[in-house]
Amino acid sequence: MKTSIEENVQLDLAARFTTVRRRSLELSAGLTPEDMMVQSLPDASPAKWHLAHTAWFFESFVLLEFLPGYRLFDPDFPWLFNSYYEGFSAFPEKRLRASFSRPALEQILRYREHVDRGIEQLLEVGAEPEALRRIELGANHEEQHQELLLTDLKHAFFTNPLRPVYKQPQARPAAPAVHSKGQAGLCPALVFQPFEGGLQQIGHLGPGFCFDNELPRHRVWLQPFALARRLVTCAEYADFMNDGGYSKPELWLSAGWNAVKQNGWRAPLYWTSGNGGWSVFTLCGELPLQELETTPVSHVSFYEADAYARWAGYRLPTEFEWEAAAEGQPVEGNLLDSGRFTPAPVDDQHMAQFGDCWVWTASAYLGYPGFRPLEGALGEYNGKFMSGQMVLRGGSCVTPAAHIRSSYRNFFAPETRWQFSGIKLAR
Ligand SMILES: [Fe+2]
Repeated sequence: MKTSIEENVQLDLAARFTTVRRRSLELSAGLTPEDMMVQSLPDASPAKWHLAHTAWFFESFVLLEFLPGYRLFDPDFPWLFNSYYEGFSAFPEKRLRASFSRPALEQILRYREHVDRGIEQLLEVGAEPEALRRIELGANHEEQHQELLLTDLKHAFFTNPLRPVYKQPQARPAAPAVHSKGQAGLCPALVFQPFEGGLQQIGHLGPGFCFDNELPRHRVWLQPFALARRLVTCAEYADFMNDGGYSKPELWLSAGWNAVKQNGWRAPLYWTSGNGGWSVFTLCGELPLQELETTPVSHVSFYEADAYARWAGYRLPTEFEWEAAAEGQPVEGNLLDSGRFTPAPVDDQHMAQFGDCWVWTASAYLGYPGFRPLEGALGEYNGKFMSGQMVLRGGSCVTPAAHIRSSYRNFFAPETRWQFSGIKLAR
């Protein structure tokens, strides 16, 4: 017989499941079926694929294992919408996802409903603890894909000559006064907050969900350090560009300088120059740089963040410094729930740790001492990517607030630019 505590856990999880599933549909509600087919770079996926793959996750790792008599929606979907789980099944090449004109969108939406009914049925009859853990994992997985859906769509719209607008902007900030070269307009001064360092506990401290890569909690020694209270702004980054930042090899790591030359980088992704100067493509349309001077710069690679920090006379924080400063802080900031979909102007009233842009850290993405991936194919979720990637912290303007916490570790290859990735300085 279930206890009332178990019943409450299942009710809470049912509500969370419903909320997360509905949000994916809400985020894609304004898109045309054609919008949802575009895959404009190999790292990205079409919105339609995200909707199908997130249903696949619940079907494959929850319903097939834990709901007796579960009937597959389509016998091809278990391999068709597998992303990278080698231990589960074969799967199509990632770059082919834009070719999935079939199954039709309408069929994908029915697939989602079929899976929703299965999870609801499982929760009604009473799921065992491992099934509940998998449903919570599936909800967190879907939140990751909500962020990816938006960052992938932003790139898709940027490559469309019409430059479509995803979301009409909220009241725009008044354009700051034109500032003279080398001065960061109306930005609050860059203030550094000192921390004593010493012996710090790093990693997730319950209660609540975390990914396997946030464990085990362990001790790290930190030298005294200081973190900037706000992110680097577009105006400050433009100063770096105007000072020849992209043409001074001494500022760059070797791999970063190679990336600059090979990719022809001379500005962050989504910045384009024309007769009127620089403009920046956002999910709220194309905006002149002058309107964004006090907003955090985003869509820079780790290499650009590192070069900027060197130019400015500072460095990037380690992931441990960031976490030591963020632990215990309320998860507040410009996250997906603000409905803004783009970074907001900086303020210096409090230490800004969450939202606007992920911050690149100087830390390579590695397992913590004693790290143990999840059992079975789910062990491929995080652990197999612990090579050649850097850690980002803090969440962005398209990260669901319920998804982020101080121990959360995001990770991307150092040349990645299509995520909302920005710069926080340390010294
Ligand atoms: Fe996934």
